Amino acid sequence: MKVLVHQKFGIIWLAALMALFFSIPSVHAQDLDVPYASTPPDVVEKMLNVADVGSGDYVIDLGCGDGRIVIAATKRGAFGHGVDLDPERVKEARDNAQKANVSERVMFLQEDIFKTDISRASVITMYLLSTVNEDLRPRLLNELEPGTRIVSHNFGMDIWEPDEHLILGDSYMDKDNLTIDQQLEVLDHEIFLWIVPAKIEGRWNWQTHGKKFTMQVEQNFQKFHARLTAGKDTLTISNKVLKGKKLSFTASNPENGMHYAFSGKVQGNKIIGNVQIRESNNKMIKRWEALRNVDT
Ligand SMILES: C[S@@+](CC[C@H](N)C(=O)[O-])C[C@H]1O[C@@H](n2cnc3c(N)ncnc32)[C@H](O)[C@@H]1O
Repeated sequence: MKVLVHQKFGIIWLAALMALFFSIPSVHAQDLDVPYASTPPDVVEKMLNVADVGSGDYVIDLGCGDGRIVIAATKRGAFGHGVDLDPERVKEARDNAQKANVSERVMFLQEDIFKTDISRASVITMYLLSTVNEDLRPRLLNELEPGTRIVSHNFGMDIWEPDEHLILGDSYMDKDNLTIDQQLEVLDHEIFLWIVPAKIEGRWNWQTHGKKFTMQVEQNFQKFHARLTAGKDTLTISNKVLKGKKLSFTASNPENGMHYAFSGKVQGNKIIGNVQIRESNNKMIKRWEALRNVDT
């Protein structure tokens, strides 16, 4: 009888252990797209500076490791969360948030960077690999709001050139208190910043100062080529800038000396802003409203 009871408990124990084992999502090193390595604290601060992180921002760290980037962002007034596939890292990040007393403003989730919802971020931070950044690129361009800042430690995104690229030499920090090893660690860190551009490809039409304007745009990330006509005249475009939703350029007609400075915000198939018009000694500012031709 005693033996039977023991056997029964043994079986229950074994079953409970197996249930526990299979219910804990286990992750092996080979499941990870990037091995763990942490961004040094000074580089974290530089990344947050470059992305201009502050209150009102929502930061998502893709592959958050011990949570240091999101935790540092909360100290600037931002909210945010980190995702990591490795449960050990997620636990470590949660413990670190608790220690830093910021648990009420951050979360750490065990999720895959290729599946997690990124749409709410105003800032994305990453310390992954170039190939992983490239695989993530379509999601970053299509799922993030134009104007979202993406900051990456050490790795670029191939054909999508960064809006800013810093190579941290040894002059960016006070090295007096560092050991030789620590000095080597702070050398050669690179920071890349991209600002998600609005989609402006296509044909845009508007009226300015009684003239019908048509602009055909070909876009290459934050860079674009545009052909602009006003009535029958082709204008020369310069000073082109596309930064998130903000679009500006100047246009002039060497034939008649007309000069225009357009600046506005892209809102889907509309651009709303103003245009400064210079016509010999005459200067004026008018509202600029362009519509994209959605039929073509
Ligand atoms: C180089 S570490 C960066 C850690 C932290 N962001 C930092 O800068 O200190 C990359 C992290 O990505 C995680 N990781 C790798 N592949 C992942 C995936 N597919 N989804 C989520 N996290 C992943 C790893 O577990 C690791 O913690």
